[in-house]
Amino acid sequence: MSSKTLRIAALAGDGIGPEVMREALKVLAAVGRKFNLSFDVTEAPVGWAGIDAAGKALPDATLELCRRSDAILFGSVGLPDRDPTIPKEERPERAALLRIRKEFGLFANLRPVKLPKALSHSCPLKPERQGDGIDLLVVRELTGGLYFGQPKKTEEITLPDGTRTQRAIDTMVYTTPEIERIAHVAFRAARLRRKKVTSIDKANVLENGILWRETVTRIAKEYPDVTLDHQFVDNAAMQFLLRPTQFDVVLCENLFGDILSDEAAALAGSLGMLPSASLGITAAERTFGFYEPAGGTAPDIAGKNLANPIAQILSSALMLRYSFGLTEAAAAIESAVATVIDQGLRTGDIFNPADPNARRVGTREMGEAIVAAI
Ligand code: IPM
Ligand code: MG
Repeated sequence: MSSKTLRIAALAGDGIGPEVMREALKVLAAVGRKFNLSFDVTEAPVGWAGIDAAGKALPDATLELCRRSDAILFGSVGLPDRDPTIPKEERPERAALLRIRKEFGLFANLRPVKLPKALSHSCPLKPERQGDGIDLLVVRELTGGLYFGQPKKTEEITLPDGTRTQRAIDTMVYTTPEIERIAHVAFRAARLRRKKVTSIDKANVLENGILWRETVTRIAKEYPDVTLDHQFVDNAAMQFLLRPTQFDVVLCENLFGDILSDEAAALAGSLGMLPSASLGITAAERTFGFYEPAGGTAPDIAGKNLANPIAQILSSALMLRYSFGLTEAAAAIESAVATVIDQGLRTGDIFNPADPNARRVGTREMGEAIVAAI
């Protein structure tokens, strides 16, 4: 298993990206030593780092590197202070992140949300709502819906009373096959968990919601061992706060998944704990994966050794599992993270002074503790 070199493109990006990536690469190196794995990691600029180095958010050389690699480990891109200074099509979120998602057909975004008992103090919900711990998986469709639907533009129009105004248009559009393939991902994932899928839609208002619900219901027949229920997205947002333990796999279209996964991350203590895997099938019929923390660049704390590196580190564990089938090595990272959490190590985002067990640490100390626990 160890002889093949696994080529990883490491794109740290902006804000806290570089410092959390540094810790994740240390952890990968440690797990590589332990399991005798050969990683070939190449770093390249993306986002504002790409613009500064090569004039665009996704430099050609970075895209080429991604194409040559077996998997992409990504940090985060975009700086709210600088983004408005360039045309919107060139901004890092669209020109790098969304472009990569589309370019590599990464339609399935998996966001596992887990609140370990030891982090109970960091969850905004009362302990009685946390049950035995929150453990759910958001399966978010990632290449359709409002993010990519056409037309998408801002135009000048004349209102009936003659005044000129601007009108912004985004289009929510899904085809049946797009819904079918993400539904299959959710049902298969549920089989490996507690065998329950909650499908989220807005079928009481949106055409998209009706097609979504019909299609997911039909696909469910192929998975008789998995229970399916449906929730409207507004109700789901409320249920996450009232009874989060009812959820196992939560299946969402793109924008609903974006919103609900941030909400779910807060339940798990912090966005800084939430990894994600974006998977697709390439033209060569190969599963290709892109792994990133679900949080953003957090420019306010960037470069201060304050950021939580756990989401980035857990993203690298997802990469080992989904892209390389290295189940044990992935589990070693996840259990090392669990160990340091149990030991009470906390970056600022998950630190609660009321927790007698908690000890506040920086980005580097957290990364090094996880390395030591491998
Ligand atoms: C996410 C992020 C992105 C998204 C942004 C940065 C474009 O919020 O991955 O959840 O909206 O998909
Ligand atoms: Mg988001």
